[in-house]
Amino acid sequence: MKKLFLPVILVVGALFLFAGCASTSSASQKSTEVKKESKGFPERVNWLEVPSLKDSYSGIFENIGVAVNERDLQGGDTLEGLVYHFSSITMENEFKPQFMFNWQKPNSNGTFTSSKGVTIEVPTNVPSFTRMDKMMNIAKSFGLRMRGHVLVWHSQTEASFFRENYNASGALVDKETMDARQEWYIKTILEHVKEWEDKYNDGKRLIYCWDVVNEAVSDNATVNAYLRTNSDWYAIFKSDKFIVNAFRYANKYAPADVQLAYNDYSCTSPAKTGGILKVIDAIQAAEKDDFLPARIDVIGMQSHVGLNNPQTSAFDIAIRKFLEKNIDVQITELDVNDTGMGSDLILRARYKALFQTFKKYQKVDGGHGISGVTFWGINDERSWISKNGTMFPLLFTRDSNGYLTKPAFFGCIEAASEE
Ligand code: GLA
Repeated sequence: MKKLFLPVILVVGALFLFAGCASTSSASQKSTEVKKESKGFPERVNWLEVPSLKDSYSGIFENIGVAVNERDLQGGDTLEGLVYHFSSITMENEFKPQFMFNWQKPNSNGTFTSSKGVTIEVPTNVPSFTRMDKMMNIAKSFGLRMRGHVLVWHSQTEASFFRENYNASGALVDKETMDARQEWYIKTILEHVKEWEDKYNDGKRLIYCWDVVNEAVSDNATVNAYLRTNSDWYAIFKSDKFIVNAFRYANKYAPADVQLAYNDYSCTSPAKTGGILKVIDAIQAAEKDDFLPARIDVIGMQSHVGLNNPQTSAFDIAIRKFLEKNIDVQITELDVNDTGMGSDLILRARYKALFQTFKKYQKVDGGHGISGVTFWGINDERSWISKNGTMFPLLFTRDSNGYLTKPAFFGCIEAASEE
């Protein structure tokens, strides 16, 4: 079964890629048709009969991405449209620490000596790479690149990882031990990916960016207290050391062409923006260190936004501040908290305005800017904010006819072709 899987995927992948190229060539014809169509509503069109989103944004953003789950990659019409519209995928859950640990209690059968010379017991039963390798194989065979999400996060990480003897109900370990565990985890994941890329991807990057740290800044950040406190990471370190160190270890173990990102939500709120700027400053202050220099390349703005809030002017302010730090921005988890089909037109306008704003900061050669936009899900029915079919946050919907565009899709397409 396993032996059959890869060849089948490769053949099917090649066919889809071929189909993708063929449909790309007719994309410009289609874009004129769509302009006509998009004046009327509803705009429910099969998602393969419209211009490709990624082609519409080619030359503007390096990647147009989408969050997916393992089952989206099994084949069929999901994968077909995914490859047609998107160049990059983020695993919604599968690369998070909890999934990499496969919900297993780590054993203490191995040892690891950190860069700082601290020797600790480490598990040999986790992380488990079976699922990750399967996802990377599929992504590669369909020509998709991946955003890695996530290495260090207070959530969706086994409680045992932070505790004595890897016992979920034990006491938290001390800083030195946790620092070494962090290095071990980051090293283990990043070296595995690099080995896979060397072996199966001609040494080229499949995972072009990692969210090294997610959501470590407080929603009410102030100059002196800007870190999230309800976190085992914070409870152990009581400072930003675990953030800066994560970027040191990521820099040590990731190839130089893997982008290293700090990712967070509500990045446009002044308090959060201020807190994130402090994180950037702390990491950049460690960039020139001789021993374990840090590196940060990207701020990931999750962007789970409302229909009206934050205003696009708030994006302007935050994006400019991040870019002033000489790093790039990626929109990493875009969706619009839309509570009703009645607001189709408003959602369309909202997406259009967001993309008009993002486009203003597109990355140009030799400069910094927005290098990619990732949607947090393919279709409304599968979105994490869908509640019994009462939320409509994304560009596509799916019914018995397959995947259909929503008016919001055309809002994004229109913004792409504007001067
Ligand atoms: C946050 C995380 C994501 C995901 C969403 C909900 O934004 O960064 O990984 O868990 O919440 O799907």
